[in-house]
Amino acid sequence: MGPNDATTASSQPFLSDIKEIRRRARAHMDQGAVTDGYRADRETVVRLLNESLATEIVCVLRYRRHHYMANGIHATAVAEEFLKHSQEEQGHADQIAERIVQLGGAPDFDPAGLSTRSHSEYVAADELVEMIRENLVAERVAIESYSEIIRYIGEGDPTTRRLMEEILAVEEEHADDMKTLLEALGPQGKSEQAR
Ligand SMILES: [Fe+2]
Ligand SMILES: [Fe+2]
Repeated sequence: MGPNDATTASSQPFLSDIKEIRRRARAHMDQGAVTDGYRADRETVVRLLNESLATEIVCVLRYRRHHYMANGIHATAVAEEFLKHSQEEQGHADQIAERIVQLGGAPDFDPAGLSTRSHSEYVAADELVEMIRENLVAERVAIESYSEIIRYIGEGDPTTRRLMEEILAVEEEHADDMKTLLEALGPQGKSEQAR
């Protein structure tokens, strides 16, 4: 930096910013996607993402179980909906795992402790309305906890926030799908929906 750089910087702030950004980007190449401009608490974000990963995996498993059980009782349309959700939850799990690695963390796929790390529960359920209700509860838990994570991240990590916002939008669709199914399945569904 020369003695005139301060004046140059103020007359051409954008160009000088670019130089500084490039310098910082080169300074810690080994940190991959995480630059000095990263303003969130990285360890906390990775931990929250690992809890979200566990939540998604539990949702994959629960929807998968319900898919096969619903198929067994010839509720084909509902079974197909469960399968579609299961696949979408798997997609979320993959996106979250990828982001954890970008942040220099390690995705936790350990089956031991999975249900403890997860925010939503695995409820097996044997009866169709019960399955749908449990899925709605799990979606509502995911919506609550992802909203909280998004608020926590704020401006500190826009990429992770955007990812979680995209996932949140899909969880809201899932919850809406489950609510529609409950309504379609008679008075039991209707009374639940009134809560
Ligand atoms: Fe999901
Ligand atoms: Fe979902």
